[in-house]
Amino acid sequence: MERTSTGVELRNLRRTFGPVVALDNLNLTLQPGELIALLGPSGCGKTTALRLLAGLDQPDSGEIVVGGKDITAVPASKRNMGMVFQSYSLFPNLTAAENVAFGLRVRRVSKSERLKRAAELLELVGLGEQRDRYPHAMSGGQAQRVALARAIAVQPDVLLLDEPLSALDAKVRTQLRDEIRRLQIEVGITTLFVTHDQEEAMAIADRVGVMRAGNLEQLDLPAVLYARPATPFVASFVGTNNVLPTTVEPNGTVYVLGRALAVAAGSDELAVGQAANALLRPESVSLGHRDGGTDGVAGVVSSTSFFGSVTRLTVKLDAGNFILVDMPSVIARDFSAGAEVLARAMTNEVVIQHQEAVALVDE
Ligand SMILES: Nc1ncnc2c1ncn2[C@@H]1O[C@H](COP(=O)(O)OP(=O)(O)OP(=O)(O)O)[C@@H](O)[C@H]1O
Ligand SMILES: [Mg+2]
Repeated sequence: MERTSTGVELRNLRRTFGPVVALDNLNLTLQPGELIALLGPSGCGKTTALRLLAGLDQPDSGEIVVGGKDITAVPASKRNMGMVFQSYSLFPNLTAAENVAFGLRVRRVSKSERLKRAAELLELVGLGEQRDRYPHAMSGGQAQRVALARAIAVQPDVLLLDEPLSALDAKVRTQLRDEIRRLQIEVGITTLFVTHDQEEAMAIADRVGVMRAGNLEQLDLPAVLYARPATPFVASFVGTNNVLPTTVEPNGTVYVLGRALAVAAGSDELAVGQAANALLRPESVSLGHRDGGTDGVAGVVSSTSFFGSVTRLTVKLDAGNFILVDMPSVIARDFSAGAEVLARAMTNEVVIQHQEAVALVDE
């Protein structure tokens, strides 16, 4: 399966549908072999971007460059791309192996070679034993594995995945997510993976692009996106943040949960004395019992949610606002609902934003 990877460039792509601007001058570069996850809310233009890249739709303006060649005018059938969609798109009357071999037939590969390749690919996605099964006799996860094998069978330059996991239940979903990543690295194929699940995007991608209303708001490494959201939208869309009102102090710090914190890069520019919102991750808050000290801001635990190794506590501060606190479950056992606590910031720096700028998305 040795092959060289191909870079992809979307340049100023614009696509409108009547009054709807689905893509508003989208620019995106994928390095050869890179997996970029495009993340964004429903209707922000993710599928439109994939369809333009695949050649299933034409932009109003802009260029698509693959491997250094402008392919904007090249029809879909000549673009050499593999695609997997959200819903299973297998041919129901063909077996797993025949489905995988299908694209090869179109490309005039001999029958024995086709079946050999199909068997290898099914092996690669963990379905070596199921090659003679029909789609109706497969689980959702198996069907998507076959769809994936079929997409990479033709050795495409680019792999396009449009929410391929969204119809699967949570466990299969994370399993297959990790397998797609393993396979993508193994085959070295440049991949654009569309999702509206931020956890999925962060887990699978080299870089994550956050889209909003036809534009790319930020493209960065998952950890950078998480720690340094470039815009309030990204901050509210990626991960969960506590939004805590504060004021910029004369020395440029802000008080958050009783501690003076440095203002992090990526923050809005705010003058001394100006009101601001500090964005504090739930895992950046620690709790102590009130009788155990005086350090921190007083509150009462109002509820706890067990997530396995981590527990999320909701704390009502005496000032009236609620904050979320994530901690290892072994420690959270000490804090049941009703516990009187002191909350402290467990970080030395914090992102701040204009107070009107923060749009809360979840919780
Ligand atoms: N064929 C079409 N005709 C009219 N409007 C369209 C068409 N395709 C997309 N749109 C509109 O363009 C915008 C972007 O759609 P797109 O399907 O790219 O969003 P998306 O980010 O994939 O959303 P989702 O997460 O719901 O799949 C939406 O407002 C959508 O209604
Ligand atoms: Mg879509």
